Amino acid sequence: MEETIPVVDLDDLRREGGADRAADALNEAFGQYGLVYVRNHGIEVERLERFYDRWVELTERAADEKRSWARPDVWYQRGWTPPNTEQAVVAGGQPDFKECYFVAPLELDERCRLMFPEIYAENSWPENAGDWREDYLALGTAVHEVGMDLLRACAKALDLPETTFSEATKGGPHVTRALRYLALDESQVGTDIVWGEEHTDFNLLTLLPGGRFYDPAGKRCERPDPEAGLYLRARATDEHPKGRMVHGRPPAGCLVAQVGQQLEILTGGRYQATPHVITPPKQPAYTRTALAHFIHLHSERRLFPHEKFLSEETILAYGPPVLAGTYGLKTLVDIGLAPKDALNKLGYHHYDRLADARS
Ligand SMILES: [Fe+2]
Repeated sequence: MEETIPVVDLDDLRREGGADRAADALNEAFGQYGLVYVRNHGIEVERLERFYDRWVELTERAADEKRSWARPDVWYQRGWTPPNTEQAVVAGGQPDFKECYFVAPLELDERCRLMFPEIYAENSWPENAGDWREDYLALGTAVHEVGMDLLRACAKALDLPETTFSEATKGGPHVTRALRYLALDESQVGTDIVWGEEHTDFNLLTLLPGGRFYDPAGKRCERPDPEAGLYLRARATDEHPKGRMVHGRPPAGCLVAQVGQQLEILTGGRYQATPHVITPPKQPAYTRTALAHFIHLHSERRLFPHEKFLSEETILAYGPPVLAGTYGLKTLVDIGLAPKDALNKLGYHHYDRLADARS
């Protein structure tokens, strides 16, 4: 039933009379599925192809070199994330079958860097990677702009001032992630091992410009199994009280945009953060690359339903308010990347100071 997920055409945002059509598509897509397909997004396909080719080459380098790109000092928020590093919060300890590389493509807020040094860390890069750095930054920036267009369109679709969401992201800790989902062996196929366990993204909006499958010989191939890939859990209905699982298969050339927890909170649940899972093919030894860009609120923004969506119900569902930076920090603790004591340091400097003074 994936054909029921609406497509939004970015050209409609600029076309006379197109805005209403885009608003209807966004409200239906983000309201019911938490996901929309985006047409005419303008992302350069050739650059994306070159980026993926290099990323595959990088993932195949020697283990020692790859380990040198890992940044446990910044909680893996930059550089290489080895397999089995992070866990979905509700996954019961099942780690994802993937390796990743994190880069922040935009300029970072200096004040936030003082408060959240790991989340606002400088980029680090592999050596001898050709155009990869330039391609990575260009793709991250271009996909971010698509996200800004969508956020402005979302605000209009919800009858809010156009810049309500986009302004709140300025200087935020946006990151782009290259992913490679790993090959399963014979014994792992058909088990409960998945490429990405079911979760909701903790940021504002996620953009996915489309990944690639590779056959056991490492060559690009079509989707090896029609059932493999992204499934999302649609909003619960009387008929499907736990939400129907819907296979996300974007039309050719479309990008996917997903609602994250921050956008659900700001809209008091009008838009739904999509629970989603990435299932591997039923044949062993296939892999997949993907690119994901995560747009965040600026870390000093308050996470609470917009006034327009405030009610007893939404206050109970989303209160009390918390800062986006604090929220992000707790999530990194929950998914096993940041140490638990990172939360104890949030603004509570007086205990240590007094203890020092008395010692
Ligand atoms: Fe996700």
